[in-house]
Amino acid sequence: MRTVRIFDSPAQVAGAVADRLGELLAANPRPVITFPTGSTMLPVYDEIVSRSKDGRLDLRGVQVIQLDEYAGVDDQTAASFRAWLHEHLLDPAGITEFHTLPAHDPTPPALAAYEDGIRARGGVDLAILGIGGNGHIAFNEPGSPADSRTRVVDLDRRTRQANERYWTNADAFVPTRAVTQGIGTILEARSILLIATGAEKADILHEALNGPVTEHVPASLIRSHPHAEVLADAAAGRHHDVEDDRISA
Ligand code: GLP
Repeated sequence: MRTVRIFDSPAQVAGAVADRLGELLAANPRPVITFPTGSTMLPVYDEIVSRSKDGRLDLRGVQVIQLDEYAGVDDQTAASFRAWLHEHLLDPAGITEFHTLPAHDPTPPALAAYEDGIRARGGVDLAILGIGGNGHIAFNEPGSPADSRTRVVDLDRRTRQANERYWTNADAFVPTRAVTQGIGTILEARSILLIATGAEKADILHEALNGPVTEHVPASLIRSHPHAEVLADAAAGRHHDVEDDRISA
């Protein structure tokens, strides 16, 4: 079922994501999950970490698969997505298994080995995604092929601008290239949860859900997945018609 659920606040969205993780963990203590970065995810990770600290969620068995990363950055770069995920989710939640992208040296064999690593873990159980202002998912910019695999991509000017805030003096400028799971890779997950909050996501979310399913709006491609769900707050979901709660491809 492809469902859109609209909540009053980002805090309620965060609670729903944490509930979903709880259900997944009850069925399988070793789930394979991709977690995105971005400001949308901060309240979500705060909620997950808080539930892990008070014992409501035990995430120690979770196997995390990295979704995207800047190309050429090493583990020491503070603005890297690896460092961000360690800080906001993995370390406080006690998650130690993190299958990372070969971002520092993304050669074709290294990228293929990364995808082999996903298969070796039995594939992704749950892919949690954000949505970029231009409709990107992970770092799959508009025009990314629906069957694309993990690869190096050029970043859109808008995406670089949106991420400028993370690149302080010490880290210099936003890289121009990134390594990302492809759309084909993402769509192989058994289920997908796309999270959108804030008024600035309202138009692109509406386009992704109600416009054509097209590579020009990468997030629209999740509508071809049989188990994709969208969780949004009222601001991001303000164009959503409750009559249309089940989105169709
Ligand atoms: C980056 C990441 C995406 C993420 C997006 C949304 O571009 N590559 O995976 O979905 O940011 O970020 P925010 O939540 O800050 O809007």
